[in-house]
Amino acid sequence: MDYDQLQLPNHLGIIMDGNGRWATERGLPRSAGHKAGADNLKKLLFYIYEKGVSYVSLYAFSTENFKRDAKEVSFLMDLFVKLFHKELDVLLELGVKVVFSGRRENLPDNVFKAMQELALKTKDANKSTLNICINYGGQYEILDMTKKITELVLSKKLSVEDIDKKVIEENLYQNLPPLDFIIRTSGEMRSSNFMIYQASYAEYYFPSTYFPDFNEQEFDKAIVEFNNRKRRFGGN
Ligand code: FPP
Repeated sequence: MDYDQLQLPNHLGIIMDGNGRWATERGLPRSAGHKAGADNLKKLLFYIYEKGVSYVSLYAFSTENFKRDAKEVSFLMDLFVKLFHKELDVLLELGVKVVFSGRRENLPDNVFKAMQELALKTKDANKSTLNICINYGGQYEILDMTKKITELVLSKKLSVEDIDKKVIEENLYQNLPPLDFIIRTSGEMRSSNFMIYQASYAEYYFPSTYFPDFNEQEFDKAIVEFNNRKRRFGGN
């Protein structure tokens, strides 16, 4: 598709849903769905960054996902570690700086270490940013931000009158621009606690495709839809 006449979102969010159902419908274990999702993600990100999107945020694992079967959780954690090691070179080639959003608690040490390493090794990349949400919940992000700001006030580093949106944004997990467009695959029409502060004026798109099948053509369709939306930001 010709992207010349099309506007791209500056910050794109993807809720990668439907891996489990993709696998179940094929008589495969859920883990095969996550593997297929990860394979798709690599191709898709390559395409998205090549088109020139500056910021991508991914919902990889929510705080609530820890409630899943222990075997599925550990499969996903191992998959993250493998991908973070394997994809470093491609990310560097693409000029992608990787940052993470979420809580440290409950994450296995090897996962946290792989996250730190990937963030450190890509920290000087300056073409685009990839924000990966792991052990993430939007309400927790707001709670954690509130605690950080309260500490600043109590230690007299900040006065209450000086708390504004800029201070809030500086104390979220990452200080990223607002989300413009959020794609949630698999037909579920919920935000599920995904970057609720940053999503205030985002356009949502809910294709019925499961994430492993959300390919380049599906992304093209999403961008056409984004271009058909009238963004009013509360004005008229
Ligand atoms: C949701 O589908 C998907 C996940 C909880 C995992 C997403 C992870 C990947 C695609 C792996 C690669 C990711 C990164 C960022 C390295 P689901 O299991 O809820 O599907 P269902 O709703 O059909 O059960």
